[in-house]
Amino acid sequence: MSNEQGATALAGEDVLGPTGRPLTEFPEPPVLSSHGPARVIAMVNQKGGVGKTTSTINLGAALAEAGRKVLLVDFDPQGALSAGLGTNPHELDITVYNVLMDRKVDIRDAIIHTEIENIDILPANIDLSAAEVQLVNEVAREQVLASALRKVEDDYDVVLIDCQPSLGLLTVNALTAAHGVIIPLICEFFSLRAVALLVETIDKVQDRLNPRLQVDGVLATMYDARTLHAREVLARLVEAFGDKVFETVIKRTIKFADASVAAEPITTYAGNHQGAESYRRLAKELIARGGAP
Ligand SMILES: Nc1ncnc2c1ncn2[C@@H]1O[C@H](COP(=O)(O)OP(=O)(O)O)[C@@H](O)[C@H]1O
Ligand SMILES: [Mg+2]
Repeated sequence: MSNEQGATALAGEDVLGPTGRPLTEFPEPPVLSSHGPARVIAMVNQKGGVGKTTSTINLGAALAEAGRKVLLVDFDPQGALSAGLGTNPHELDITVYNVLMDRKVDIRDAIIHTEIENIDILPANIDLSAAEVQLVNEVAREQVLASALRKVEDDYDVVLIDCQPSLGLLTVNALTAAHGVIIPLICEFFSLRAVALLVETIDKVQDRLNPRLQVDGVLATMYDARTLHAREVLARLVEAFGDKVFETVIKRTIKFADASVAAEPITTYAGNHQGAESYRRLAKELIARGGAP
């Protein structure tokens, strides 16, 4: 490994990471002696293609590697998270959709144990696209996911919800069920207005539905240090969000696409790759910030 940022720098003097802050050596996550209740984190950005699904899978896998019991909730009708972990979402009879729409369906019957230790998923498929409309007439329509997840909160340490690219009722359900929000942002363009709209939605949910909700962090993804543009976008992100920006930055690499074709997290597909190391570091940073047990 040549000049991967942080690989050697961590040992000695202050070296500035891509966010302009000195790189911290985060402690190894403590071993958990018991499990649950889960901390629930929604991965939200109303734009598509910013790294929500990739970050949900790989942060989840890194937390699982650290001994955390992890439930990944696919909350996007595209089913990319489900597919990315090897289930064929279109062949499933019971998905998160059925859990939301029919109170007689037990969430445990929809949850799938993956081949990866400590990772379960609550899958989704295109059926979920009908839920947005169908839920409108439900009582407490914003709280349907929260009440479903409550039944399994003692089985997990962390629940990560991979949201669809919208700020509609499904995403509001995710925010209502969550303790924290992680906002993945691509280091390619940065619309302060779009993020302001997202933060406004988070604030509204916190005010009206879920007082415990907080922003755990902003995650810069697909960073290419060779381009001035990416460095500028990251600098503006830090200007706007300060310490909320995770020190860990996810670099652009084709390995993530390769891993998703193999239907595996990068931590098992290419465990020594810097992409895997980045998500392990993010898991440590999140734990060090109190965002996960
Ligand atoms: N760090 C990265 N480097 C390169 N490609 C990435 C990276 N993260 C995600 N991708 C790719 O970018 C595309 C969009 O990512 P995805 O996680 O599906 O975003 P979202 O869920 O926000 O729509 C996918 O093809 C994915 O493989
Ligand atoms: Mg996605």
